Amino acid sequence: MSPDTMTEATFDRHLSDDWREQALLADVTAGLAAAPRRLTPRWLYDDRGSELYSEITRLPEYYLTEAERGVLHRAAGEIVELSGADTLIELGSGTSDKTTTLLDAFAAAGRLERFVPLDVSEQTLRDAAAVLAERYPGMHVHGVIGDFVEHLSVVPHEGVPLLAFLGSTIGNFYPDERAAFFRAVADWLPGDGHLLLGVDLVKPIDRIMAAYNDAAGVTAEFTLNVLAVLNRELDADFDLAGFEHVGMWDPNHTRVDLRLRSLGDQHVTIARAGMELDIAADEEIRAEISSKFTFEQLDGEFAAAGLEAARSWTSDGGDVALVMVRRA
Ligand code: SAH
Ligand code: TRP
Repeated sequence: MSPDTMTEATFDRHLSDDWREQALLADVTAGLAAAPRRLTPRWLYDDRGSELYSEITRLPEYYLTEAERGVLHRAAGEIVELSGADTLIELGSGTSDKTTTLLDAFAAAGRLERFVPLDVSEQTLRDAAAVLAERYPGMHVHGVIGDFVEHLSVVPHEGVPLLAFLGSTIGNFYPDERAAFFRAVADWLPGDGHLLLGVDLVKPIDRIMAAYNDAAGVTAEFTLNVLAVLNRELDADFDLAGFEHVGMWDPNHTRVDLRLRSLGDQHVTIARAGMELDIAADEEIRAEISSKFTFEQLDGEFAAAGLEAARSWTSDGGDVALVMVRRA
């Protein structure tokens, strides 16, 4: 291979334009007709949504990203040793910004043959893969444009894998989806593979809520953006100014519940879905949850899926944790 082709990333694209439209239509027809109305979080991350998420990660109230970066930095050497991995796969990789901490440690150990970032957000993934292929010339970057639930089973099985799932994205699954995801990981992982899971820990509620109700209103813009996605892709006519972002703490499930609340009675047409909605004043559309965890709860959920924690690291200050998980 010439040096030129060495630094090119390659891609598998599992999401055709048709897949996206069909999946969006299925989610919208089921979710927006349900009581209470709900939307699936993956639609939050179009190009604009991915940009807004990056802005969230830099907000003073959003402690998660800096805390996870810190603990990754401290644990990276041990993660490399313990995993024995030559293949790093990252689910929901986005810009893979924090992942460079891990990639640097793998590079220092001369261990990593390939990096496989997987994300539903195509442009963000392509841009990140190009930057990383350039930065780590000896490592092959194999991007997968896909859904981390539907396409985990078709991620190439090569070498000794470390499957990273960072940013507390696991917290955005409902409990039944989380259980199904852990089972799918247990099925997918070879005996010598590991999952590296980044989770947000239960902590005083005011700190958590500030992270999802930031003073600058970026989180509100992020959740409202999903309505712009429906307007553009399904020819809908949501009035974004007719909704407000609401974050609530659900103590029974130790999770933040993020909703879009209608400021008045509204009629909405979603042309491509053939839907007409009458949304009442104060009615809410559930946009996303963000669950917070304890180690006890995680251990129970791992065990139920045939997994176990091999080691964990908590960030300074105790905000977030990284857990190395393997087949039990
Ligand atoms: N891992 C990064 C980004 C987290 S944001 C971090 O730790 O900061 C969540 C990422 O998951 C986004 O890049 C989004 O595009 C992606 N994503 C959301 N739903 C997805 C799905 N169903 N399948 C694949 N990627 C998804
Ligand atoms: N995984 C991130 C989290 O749960 C995603 C996220 C950050 C998010 N801010 C958000 C999701 C606001 C919805 C709304 O923290």
